[in-house]
Amino acid sequence: MTFVYKADPVRGARWAELFAERAPHIDFRIWPDIGDESRVRYLATWVPPERLAERFPQLQAVFSVGAGVDQIDFADVPAHVPIVRMIEPAIAERMVEYVTHAVLSIHRGFAAYDAAQAAGRWQPMVAPLAGEVRVGVLGAGQLAQAVLSRLGLFGYDCAAWSRSAKSIVGVQCFAGQESLPAFLARTDILVCLLPLTPETRGILSDELLGALPRGASLVQTGRGGHLDQQALLRRLDGDHLRWAFLDVTEPEPLPPEHPLWRHPKVRITPHIASSTQPDTAVAAVLENLERLARGEPAVGAVDRTRGY
Ligand code: NAP
Ligand code: GLV
Repeated sequence: MTFVYKADPVRGARWAELFAERAPHIDFRIWPDIGDESRVRYLATWVPPERLAERFPQLQAVFSVGAGVDQIDFADVPAHVPIVRMIEPAIAERMVEYVTHAVLSIHRGFAAYDAAQAAGRWQPMVAPLAGEVRVGVLGAGQLAQAVLSRLGLFGYDCAAWSRSAKSIVGVQCFAGQESLPAFLARTDILVCLLPLTPETRGILSDELLGALPRGASLVQTGRGGHLDQQALLRRLDGDHLRWAFLDVTEPEPLPPEHPLWRHPKVRITPHIASSTQPDTAVAAVLENLERLARGEPAVGAVDRTRGY
């Protein structure tokens, strides 16, 4: 039985070591050295190869190497083959680091002090207490909950918005489209941790950004396709928004001439907020292989109708 890994080969080398230690009975292969295609049962990938069903007729599951699955065309994966997103502790921890950094930078004015330093200007600014800063997270899943629990330790006034109703200690929970305006109206720093689906594409629209209080900021760690980038530029230029921290853009890479790069109120990172770590990712995948062998659903199995 062959398990094919088709993603970053450097991480793949570590996956190979871990499979050799923990599951030596599995023929672990790194793309493109995959051996006999008819023996392939499992694929871990960012983007699957073309002609997936034809190429791997015995395929039993597709694992995304990331938390998101929007890069996978569900139509190419036979209906009986589960698509599984990555749920593992390290990807959540790395996202916590990124979002905490962005929220603290906005709240304590570190982003503004960069400009003051560049101008040689000694200019103290008053920052509110954390309890007076309302952070709102779009999404209440694996990553959002980890982020909310850490921001809560700093004392931020936290809320989350999701599709289905949630109850999270210390977090004001909003669910469904009808509650979105109330959630936005109480949000000073908006963090996007949604999956990209037909429903959420373009959700960070001009209207949504305009529904935030004047002086609010955005931390965009979802997917580039969530955001209307031109609307963001207008809202920043019109002083409706203060800061935007963008880890994801559309397209990626963002072309060098794009105005977002040089906007004084924008901080850009190249889609590095978080990624799976081989040790914990392989543990999660091996656990899921056991679950599938027992006929149980995999943890992180995607609901194709919801799109995540
Ligand atoms: P998850 O556990 O599936 O959580 C997704 C959350 O979004 C859920 O709370 C879900 O609501 C909510 N949601 C989905 N569609 C919605 C809609 N139409 N309206 C309202 N809420 C909706 O996903 P995750 O593991 O936390 O990952 C979230 C996303 O983060 C990924 O899909 C990816 O886009 C992004 N990501 C980015 C990076 C990076 O480096 N920038 C790294 C990893 C992941 P329910 O709880 O009601 O289902
Ligand atoms: C990265 O963006 C992921 O989805 O894990």
